[in-house]
Amino acid sequence: MKGIILSGGHGTRLLPLTKMTSKQLLPVYNRPMVYYPLNTLLKAGIKEILFVIAPDHAGNYLNLLGSGKEFGARFTYEIQDEPRGLAEAFIIAESFLDNGPVTMILGDNIFEDDFSEAIKGFKSGGRVFAKEVSDPKRFGVVEFDENKKAISIEEKPQNPKSNFAIPGLYIYDKRVVDFAKEVSPSQRGEIEITEIHKRYLALGELDVQIVRGEWVDAGTFDSLLSANQLAKERLASKMII
Ligand code: DAU
Repeated sequence: MKGIILSGGHGTRLLPLTKMTSKQLLPVYNRPMVYYPLNTLLKAGIKEILFVIAPDHAGNYLNLLGSGKEFGARFTYEIQDEPRGLAEAFIIAESFLDNGPVTMILGDNIFEDDFSEAIKGFKSGGRVFAKEVSDPKRFGVVEFDENKKAISIEEKPQNPKSNFAIPGLYIYDKRVVDFAKEVSPSQRGEIEITEIHKRYLALGELDVQIVRGEWVDAGTFDSLLSANQLAKERLASKMII
């Protein structure tokens, strides 16, 4: 299993903090933000990791993370010229993935859970996660039937059908690259990851597992503050990097 850490974008919601560095390199308590998703992948045994980054602060990533040797891993970097959507990462990663499965995590998503089992036990199809939140409109939202089977998925719905958000951790088999190529840009001009989930859901091959521990998408000032608190109180002592 190879990993992608999607760490591009302009971070406009965090200006002026993101004027001189990338959002995912901002401090979260005592580590750069990107260490948390990196920790999640390394803990699950993923050693070959591609960072998809924006051109603006690419040098900072190399300075911070280098070859990966220090982390017992191998790091590769690809530039995403413009933030054209989360699913574009799979297209950019095509040669890196070399027809294999992938776990992608967003560089601003911080998880308390250990995903080793979910990742190591993955066979085929797609596996995403769900977490009950108070503000589902900000996220991809999954609706379940009475048997806890996923029945619909929508990106940032005006009228969410449930309170279950889909966090930024996705496990897909090799077909994801072709599926991503078939997605047309949404109204906001992005190749939406939600379209990939929907594709696997329509095939009856999407597994949705519940996230038990805390999860923070650190992309706004308030959630960045929550991320700092979570890191200090629950994560810092358990990190392997
Ligand atoms: O955090 C989970 C949510 O992430 C999901 O529930 C949504 O389904 C998914 O669309 C995404 O929503 P966001 O509104 O949080 O996406 P955002 O545009 O903030 O991008 C998420 C991260 O990915 C952010 O750290 C920047 C990076 N990014 C984003 C885009 C659009 C890239 O590296 N490249 C891109 O093209």
